[in-house]
Amino acid sequence: MTLSLGWLSALAVGVFSAHVLQKLCFPYFWKDLFFLLKVISYGVKLEVFKLRSSVSTVLDRFIQNAQRFPDKPFVIYEGSVHTYRDIDRRSNRLSNVFLDHLKLKKGDCVALLMSNEPDFLCVWFGLAKVGCSVAFLNTNIKSKSLLHCFNCCAAKTLIIGSDLLEGLDGTLTTLLDDNIQVWAMKSQVEHTQVHTLLDKLEAASDKPVPAVLRATTSLKSPTLYIFTSGTTGLPKAAVITHLQSLKGAAGFWAFGGTEDDVIYIPLPLYHSAASLIGIGGTVHLGATCILKKKFSASQFWNDCRKHNVTIFQYIGELCRYLCNQPTTDLDKVHKVRMGVGNGLRQDVWREFQSRFGSIQMCEVYGSTEGNLCFMNHIGRIGTVGRSNFFYRLLFKYDLVKYDMMKDEPVKDEYGFCQRVRRGETGLLLSKVSATSPFFGYAGSKQLTEKKLMRNVFVKGDAYFNTGDLMAEDLDGFICFRDRVGDTFRWKGENVATTEVTETLMLVEFIQEVNVYGVEIPGHEGRAGMAAMIIRPGHKFDGKTLFEHATRDLPAYARPLFVRLQEVMEMTSTFKQQKFQLVQSGFNPSTISDPLYALDYQQKSYIPLTDLIYQSIIAGERKL
Ligand SMILES: *[C@@H]1O[C@H](CO)[C@@H](O)[C@H](O)[C@H]1NC(C)=O
Repeated sequence: MTLSLGWLSALAVGVFSAHVLQKLCFPYFWKDLFFLLKVISYGVKLEVFKLRSSVSTVLDRFIQNAQRFPDKPFVIYEGSVHTYRDIDRRSNRLSNVFLDHLKLKKGDCVALLMSNEPDFLCVWFGLAKVGCSVAFLNTNIKSKSLLHCFNCCAAKTLIIGSDLLEGLDGTLTTLLDDNIQVWAMKSQVEHTQVHTLLDKLEAASDKPVPAVLRATTSLKSPTLYIFTSGTTGLPKAAVITHLQSLKGAAGFWAFGGTEDDVIYIPLPLYHSAASLIGIGGTVHLGATCILKKKFSASQFWNDCRKHNVTIFQYIGELCRYLCNQPTTDLDKVHKVRMGVGNGLRQDVWREFQSRFGSIQMCEVYGSTEGNLCFMNHIGRIGTVGRSNFFYRLLFKYDLVKYDMMKDEPVKDEYGFCQRVRRGETGLLLSKVSATSPFFGYAGSKQLTEKKLMRNVFVKGDAYFNTGDLMAEDLDGFICFRDRVGDTFRWKGENVATTEVTETLMLVEFIQEVNVYGVEIPGHEGRAGMAAMIIRPGHKFDGKTLFEHATRDLPAYARPLFVRLQEVMEMTSTFKQQKFQLVQSGFNPSTISDPLYALDYQQKSYIPLTDLIYQSIIAGERKL
């Protein structure tokens, strides 16, 4: 969404061009234009920050809000109201503790491991006020990945929520051995080497720390690290600069949000959707948000009615869970007018709107680290975004032909990619340029480089490879088709097949393993499945596999199904062949290989019978 001023004049000319006049008859013209003008005006604002070398950050906006309307509720959590002033003061206290006790300095990176609660925001803002960048850790991740996260962003300090300290177990010792300072949001702890924050907080002043600490001159300075499950194993720390955080914060506003909106945030704050778009967006509007510790389908509408919620954030699964709730007379009794999120499938979208009323569903497409985003401001069902003549001028993206069997883009005789025709599905690439920079991953040039494709259409160009197969129809609506390569989504999280593979390879009886995702009717994303070859002289042992999977992998990444194979197919370029495995799915009546299913009751992988298969298809088995 950043634009150089040059584009403005180009646009001015464009607006009066014949091209546009002809488009006046186009049904979406005014909506498109209105939306684009918003995007452009915001882009201009960001340009001004650049010219002046002084950035007004999302945090600055929050502090202004706290001065302008201190008593306005900012966050409502489990029934208690926290005003802008409350959060501002408490984060000041924390800032003072960070300076006096933790001896943090501007530029340090601090890791934050907390569940959704108002203190997540206080710690985040408190750190930002002393000029620290913050690395949000996924509360699901397990020991090995957690340690890796500290290395990525060079954090030397961990701040941990009171409810999560217990869960650290063995990892805690390793962290302490690595000289990571661990501070818990508690007044007292048993562990002698863990420091306490709450007692110091009580005693600290709530006066603001000097503004110079948080000041930044560049939109490109990192403010957050958000971990994304990568294509290459362990989580990657996406560098979130002020530029991305400001863009994310403008999302609700671009879709028409105002300060009177009440925003419902049931997604985890360590993801960019809840933090950048949700909290950032609430701050940008000066609105109120209802923060949930966890999403609950049975509480959702009651919450919305109780708090007069007008906007909610979703992932596709969440809307499906809401549709699966028993119908009531109150289904259409609420003030919700808009949902912002992604991954909503056509069938659920239709059902959701017919059941709960005409709520505008705004799909946003874009990865945490990506340099491109699509927004479906029209609300056409089943599409993630909208492109048009101007959009294509501003954002250089392309869809190129992709060979599913080889699992790589199709190249022509000169080694260049080929664009697909309109309406055809292709791999989405986004050009990396000064206006659409890619900031990459912390601590790894290699990973950053891997996400880029060079010499795509001409020698020397560079594109961000989204890894998503998309199609754009003749009207400019963009649909998500599939994800290629080494990740798939399940329960709102990215699963990196290589990470799962590495973990499973530690199991003694496994010689070779190929992890992929299979579709299950009635579920968003793909469920994990592992095809494996058993080491000669060994036997498949469901209990051992279960123990490894539950101990070393977060719940969403555990393979739900296992397929034993004699040989493993390779692609012509010697990658594991996933495509055919994905296509053949997990139906025991059509697959002759032995199949197993993850079973939490028996704490084992048990033979996948027709009966189990049918109960999964019928949606009766909890997955
Ligand atoms: C919600 O709106 C109704 C009617 O507009 C109002 O009476 C009520 O006080 C509002 N509730 C809250 C929590 O703001």
